[in-house]
Amino acid sequence: MEQKTKLPSSPSTAAVHAGEQRFRAHHSLIVPIFQTSVYTFRNTEALINFTEEHMFWDEPEREEYGRYGNPTVRAVEAKIAALEGAQDAILVSSGMAAVTSTLLLMLSSGDHMILTDECYYSTLQFCQRFLPRYGIEASIVPHGDYAALEAAIRPNTRLIFSESPTNPFNHCIDLGRLVEIAQRHQVKTIIDTTFATPINLRALAYGVDLVIQSVTKYLAGHNDVMAGVIIGRNDLTTPLRQAQGMLGGVVDAHAAYLILRGLKTLALRVARHNANGVAVARFLADHPKVRKVWHPSLESHRDHGLASATMQGFGGVVSFEIDGGAERAYHFIDALKIPTIGPSLGGVETMISPLALMGYAEVPPEERLTLGIRDELVRLCLGIEDTDDLIADLCQALEQI
Ligand SMILES: Cc1ncc(COP(=O)(O)O)c(C=O)c1O
Repeated sequence: MEQKTKLPSSPSTAAVHAGEQRFRAHHSLIVPIFQTSVYTFRNTEALINFTEEHMFWDEPEREEYGRYGNPTVRAVEAKIAALEGAQDAILVSSGMAAVTSTLLLMLSSGDHMILTDECYYSTLQFCQRFLPRYGIEASIVPHGDYAALEAAIRPNTRLIFSESPTNPFNHCIDLGRLVEIAQRHQVKTIIDTTFATPINLRALAYGVDLVIQSVTKYLAGHNDVMAGVIIGRNDLTTPLRQAQGMLGGVVDAHAAYLILRGLKTLALRVARHNANGVAVARFLADHPKVRKVWHPSLESHRDHGLASATMQGFGGVVSFEIDGGAERAYHFIDALKIPTIGPSLGGVETMISPLALMGYAEVPPEERLTLGIRDELVRLCLGIEDTDDLIADLCQALEQI
């Protein structure tokens, strides 16, 4: 088999070349879409060789069946692993599949886990409502309260799950502090860094055990595909990969191809998302019709210092409250010409969500308020459009309210 390209470690070069063979069948530059569910064997000797090789669960030279592996999927996994500086990455069918399968496989009945409270709402729900069915208990502690986190650790605590930066308030975890506490108690750490991407933050370098991301967002980057990824050391990913073959939440080759294509421009796209985030956050923070803005580039943000010290960029999500209540916020959103109303982020198109109506609509109003989701809260997920065009659009919409 042709060797994988040995690369300089810069993220831009890794995004284009890492994980791919330098020369491949038919001299094709691009990784082909291996649209097949079955891989055949020339004879029984080939099958015996494959079976023996497979016993050790090394990366196989070939595949057998689509649920156990696909070459297009493997290229995505190798590229993401290189970008994160990880030994391995497992691509799964959505960000939530990455969260749920990892937790199900790392926890057993009688185990306890800790979750920081500002997590993606479906992650919170899964831990609070679903895991107890299997005899697994989750304690929820305030994001950023390290004393509460340590106090919540019990003899049966197996892992701590957190998110950094958080959705939607961009709060950041001090990864060094988290890992120090966890390692002292021999507890594993898992961080969802969907908002950061490996361009802005490589959490594994801080000693975090596993990183999870929704590939649907920045990694794929074009609002046209769903996937998730689990990234980390082989000793943790190998059992997850084996179980993935049973759980079955695999990614189709065509979706993998779209992700691979998107990943090639990740560094460029994230640089623009970051630049748009900084400029728009500053514009909104200075605007008299905006009450409060959450973006880590702002000195007013709780984790500005931490984000400045640990992240390469502040990201493209800016959350803010319009002064004067929900009706005024809706009026502002409807007056915008570039962003469209939608529930996602990380793609090239700017999206806007009134969060109380989108993402948190089924959450009872009192619970929404405890999560900080007021009716006038708006999450603006900046795309890669021109910064001045975006600011001019926000400006004209604010003038109309
Ligand atoms: C931080 C975070 N994690 C996980 C998810 C879930 O990802 P997916 O929608 O790909 O299942 C999301 C989705 O918005 C998210 O924002």
